[in-house]
Amino acid sequence: MVAKNKTPRNLKEALKGKLTKKEFEFAPKAFDSFGDIAVIEIPKELEKKKKLIGETLLEINPRFLTICSIESDHVGNYRVQKVKVIAGKKNLVATYKESAVTLKVPLGEVFFSPRLGSERLRIAQEIKKGEKIGCWFSGVGPYPVVFAKNSQMDSAVAIELNPVAHKYALENAKINKCEDKIEFVKGDVKKVYKKYKKVFDRIAMPLPHTGYQFLEEAFFCIKPKGMIYFYEIVEKEDFKLPEGQIREAAKKQKRKIRIMRKRRVRQFSPTKEQVVFDIKVLD
Ligand SMILES: C[S@@+](CC[C@H](N)C(=O)[O-])C[C@H]1O[C@@H](n2cnc3c(N)ncnc32)[C@H](O)[C@@H]1O
Repeated sequence: MVAKNKTPRNLKEALKGKLTKKEFEFAPKAFDSFGDIAVIEIPKELEKKKKLIGETLLEINPRFLTICSIESDHVGNYRVQKVKVIAGKKNLVATYKESAVTLKVPLGEVFFSPRLGSERLRIAQEIKKGEKIGCWFSGVGPYPVVFAKNSQMDSAVAIELNPVAHKYALENAKINKCEDKIEFVKGDVKKVYKKYKKVFDRIAMPLPHTGYQFLEEAFFCIKPKGMIYFYEIVEKEDFKLPEGQIREAAKKQKRKIRIMRKRRVRQFSPTKEQVVFDIKVLD
């Protein structure tokens, strides 16, 4: 016998009967969670059902207090995505946890992606005792703070342009009691990099789409035998363009390199994916 009033397995199932048959075809299943806030992309066909969808998600996931909808792509130099509360408490500052770290994230004012958590931990596990790390494009500080709490690094320099993200990065370092290990610089990598000639054992560069414009600066700042982690968005498995950009920038800075690894990190869109290059500088 099939039990009546069974708890729905997911949001789409929970929306069955609440939407028309046509609307139901567009019903979303997936969402991102940031502690007690869920962020969901609602297709334009369901524009008028946002509140209903938000309230349904609250009902089936009691751990959420707030549901937000995504209102734009990632735009501008700060790569910020607009969001709007559609159900629950009117709070946009998330408390997010990963790899023994707690981060405050003001959604809609800064870039932050929970989907790169495994990358941050992977790099932290490669960091050796006493190393100095460059965390460029550091946002609210997930890379430097995860590194500080999960490695024996000496120190990190975190550089970020968005003043709001910089302010939260300072707070996040304090929350995680690692502020003495991280120098936070509010500014443009292009303007400050010269201070760090051959200083870093490793540099993390999580700025897809435009990060290639900073490769020369990275080759200027990396120590001999250092490693650069460079992220890009490419058409499926097409590593050629970024690989060419990497080799050209290294040549301009007269550095010999070996690409140790290039691999897919996550799906970005139906045809594109985010990839990472681990670039070893040999001299
Ligand atoms: C894709 S986000 C990554 C943020 C953070 N590392 C994370 O993973 O959550 C890129 C960040 O780089 C910052 N940014 C963009 N151009 C910059 C520049 N020229 N110098 C420093 N930071 C920059 C943006 O404000 C944004 O916070």
